[in-house]
Formats: sequence, structure tokens, C-alpha cells
Amino acid sequence: MTADGPDDGTFSNLARKARRRLPRLFADYIDGGAHGEHTLHRNRAAFTRWSVTPRGLRDVSSIDLTTTCFGRTWRLPFFLAPVGFAGMFHAQDEAATAHMAARHSIGMGISTFSIAAMEDLVASEADLMAQIYVMRDRAVTRDLLERAKNCGTSGIIVTIDTAITPVRERDVRNGFLHLSRPTLPQMASLLTRPRWLAGAVRQGGNRVGNIDRYTTSRGIMAQARDLTAQIDPTLDWDDLAWLRDAWNGLLVIKGIMHPADALRAMTLGADGIIVSNHGGRQMDPAPGTLDVLPAITEAVGGRIDIVIDGGIRRGGDVVTALALSAKAVSFGRPWAWGLAAHGERGVNAVLELLEREVRDVMALAGLCDTETVRKAGRAALWPLA
Ligand code: FNR
Repeated sequence: MTADGPDDGTFSNLARKARRRLPRLFADYIDGGAHGEHTLHRNRAAFTRWSVTPRGLRDVSSIDLTTTCFGRTWRLPFFLAPVGFAGMFHAQDEAATAHMAARHSIGMGISTFSIAAMEDLVASEADLMAQIYVMRDRAVTRDLLERAKNCGTSGIIVTIDTAITPVRERDVRNGFLHLSRPTLPQMASLLTRPRWLAGAVRQGGNRVGNIDRYTTSRGIMAQARDLTAQIDPTLDWDDLAWLRDAWNGLLVIKGIMHPADALRAMTLGADGIIVSNHGGRQMDPAPGTLDVLPAITEAVGGRIDIVIDGGIRRGGDVVTALALSAKAVSFGRPWAWGLAAHGERGVNAVLELLEREVRDVMALAGLCDTETVRKAGRAALWPLA
């Protein structure tokens, strides 16, 4: 645990660099959570209740991390979570992350609020899924679906934990949502980060490229405010049935934290779910995602693939999640820090650091591939509390 947040695990150097490079309000936007940030901390704490049991003499000369998830095959059991406005963190924008997803042969979610449009990111040839918020105006949602299909994404992720946007104290303190008319202190904060500022000026386009066609507002923050207000709070399971009808490709539901919701999503024809509390940015207090994973796994009984996100910061976290039946893990802040710190090179470092640690843990546990980890299940783990 650090002074003002959960520990950043193997990414601590990159996170530190990102915080030094970014204006305070962007660093806080990445790091922060809702209300008391209890959920944010609980995501990390949940992993500390498990350890992986060391085993010897099992020929671990070859470790294979290949995973099949949501019908896709990835070289590593990693999925880069959709992160809004990530293009603001570095001039190389989300394309840097998509290139690294392609290089490492893993999946990535494109946020509805991506600075780069999905049409521009597919050129990376990464395995990309479009994350969709269902908007009040269903014509916008239909257009997003149409675009996701036409540009060749491999599927969609529908995020269901954002019926409203709760108070995030750090963003309130920094006036994050009011950046379109920067105050003097905000201007001063931006000027203390000249390298970031030069990149932002070089990048030019002050717009949320993925969705600016749906708003008449100008400027990233005004567009963000406008479109966040369009996320439909009346959304219910009937709408999900509508969506299942409107989209005949791969459909994944993100933001599941209850076994009954997992079952409902499955019954409505979802191809997979992401157990997620939005990285502690929505409901507070909520349980850690790893805390609810076993009950959700039991409910769906292996009939659809489960990915988990929230607080994945170490190789041991990945192995623990797989042993508790996740097909893959997903993470948001780590790649955002890597991107902010060093662009493409930083995202590459994030993936290499995590891969190395997963290999270490699997080898020392005598588990040579991801399916073996899942089959071993709890027998590979040692509960600590
Ligand atoms: C997010 N997340 C998110 N999720 C989503 O479905 N659409 C979005 O636009 C965003 N935007 C976003 C911005 C930022 C700055 C963060 C940190 C997160 C949530 C994200 O996909 C994922 O669920 C969490 O990031 C997982 O927790 P960790 O890995 O950050 O601890």
C-alpha cells in the first residue's frame, strides 16, 4: 500500500513515471476511484488472501501461456481493458497500445471514449473489441454497432456498471470535467508538464475521435460531458435482449459482480462476461472482483468464458485468477501508466513485465500451461485468510 493508493505491483516504476509526466488531473483521473476508494483498495486486497503453492521436480523447461478466450486465441492470457481518453495520456494515443496488443498477440477493448476512432485502430491488426455504452438515442448505439462490424472488430463489449457516474473526489478536486474552460490553477498544472503539453499540442485534434460525430460540442471535455450524459440510465435486461438481436457477432458483458447477473447475461445469449467493478470507479463500497469470482464461476458452470479485471498487478495475481477459473485477466491502469510514461515502449514494458512474472510463478508451481492451471484449480492455491 502506498500513501494514497493501492500498491502498483510490478508496474510501480512505470506508474511513478506516468505520474511525473502527466498533469495532476490526468494522473488522478487514471488512479482514482469512486467515493471512499474502498472498492479500489479491495480489488488489490482480495489477491493478498491467496498464495500459489510451490511444487518441485515437474519439468518446467517449457511454459506455454496460450489461451483461448471468447473463441479467440491469444499468446498470453491478457486482455487490455477499455480505458476512456487514453489518447490524452501520450501523443502516440491508443494506436500505441493497439500495436503492442498486436505484437504480443493479445486482445484489447476500444473504449467508447477512445481519442482514436475504432476505424483508425483496426489498422494495427490487433484483436480488437469495441466497448459500447448504450446511449439514450438508440440510433447512436446502432451506428456504433454498424461501425464495429464494418471496420472489422472481432466483437463488442457492453459495459453495464455505469448507469450513473458517481462522485470521484479526485476528479471533483481537480475540476476534471470542467477542463474545457481551464482555470488558472489548471493552466498552471498543465504548464508544469511541458513534455506532456508539447505532445498534446503536436497531436492537435482536441476531440474524442471515436464519438465526436454524435455531438455538436467542441473540445474533448465538452464532448465527454455531453456523451456521458447520453449513457442511458433506463437500460435494463430487455434492452440487452434487443442488443443481442441487433448484433449477431461476439457479445461480451462487462461489469458483472453477481452470480444472478452472470446467469441472466448467459441466458440472454452473451458469449462471455467480464467480472469487473470498473476498477473501483463506480460502486463504492463493493467487493473485490476476486472475492466474487468463485460464486460467479459456480453459477455459469463453465458454459461461457469469464475474464476478470480489477487490481491485477503481479504474475501471481494472474495465476490465482486462472486457478479460480478465469480464462484470462484484464487490466486498465497498468497499460495507461505504460502509455503515459513511454508511449508504445511503455505498453510493451507492461506486457513483458507481467508475462515474465506469470512464467516465473507457473514454473515454480510446476504448472506448464494455462489449461493445467485451470484444471489444478484450488489445488494450486493456498488460501491465506
Ligand atoms: C476505465 N474503465 C473503463 N471501462 C469501460 O468499459 N469503458 C471505459 O471507457 C473505461 N474507462 C476507464 C478509464 C480509466 C482511466 C480507467 C482506469 C478505467 C474500466 C476498465 O476497463 C477496467 O475495468 C479497470 O481499469 C480494471 O481495473 P484496473 O486494472 O485498472 O485495476
